[in-house]
This record gives sequence, structure tokens and C-alpha cells, in this order.
Amino acid sequence: MNLVKVCEADALKAGEMMGVEPDGLPPIAIYNIEGQFFATSNVCTHAVAMLTDGYIDGDQIECPMHGGMFDIRSGAPTHFPCTEPLQTWPVEVRDGAVFIITG
Ligand code: FES
Repeated sequence: MNLVKVCEADALKAGEMMGVEPDGLPPIAIYNIEGQFFATSNVCTHAVAMLTDGYIDGDQIECPMHGGMFDIRSGAPTHFPCTEPLQTWPVEVRDGAVFIITG
């Protein structure tokens, strides 16, 4: 199991997100949804936009470009024009830090 540290847990309050670019990985968005952390690709699958420039609505992320939406927990597209899912990574919190599991 490969753990990659992406941020400190207290860096993100509930309802917040941040973009990270760990070495060797694509841009990733880290979210705190009601105290639980999630990680998806930060790049919209519709065209090219960074999702962390968009808006969190409950457990959905709305793309800033054309208003498409994804389920933050699963990466599934939930609103037109997005039809392709986002890549997601499992997340683990250890000793106050947030890690994604990359393999
Ligand atoms: Fe995200 Fe079009 S680029 S909805």
C-alpha cells in the first residue's frame, strides 16, 4: 500500500477543498465533507477546468466552466455536460495528516 501525504487534516475545514499536485500524480482535489476526507482528480472530464475553482454543494462538486457536477464520494458524473467519471483515490487520516492511497 502506497500512502502519499497530501495535507494536514486541520488545513481543511468541513465544506472546504484544496488542490494538490503530488510528485508523479495528476492534479488532485482533496475535500472535507462533514469531517470525512475524499480525493478526486482535480481536472473536469468534460473539458479543461480545475474543479477546486468551482463550488462544493453538499457532497457534489460543481465545475466552474460549464456547471457540470460530480459526486465527490464516488467521482460519478451527476449533472450535464459531464458524462465521464472522475478518478478517485482512497483517503486515510493518520496522526493528523491526510494521505491518499495510490496502490
Ligand atoms: Fe467542466 Fe465543462 S469543463 S463542465
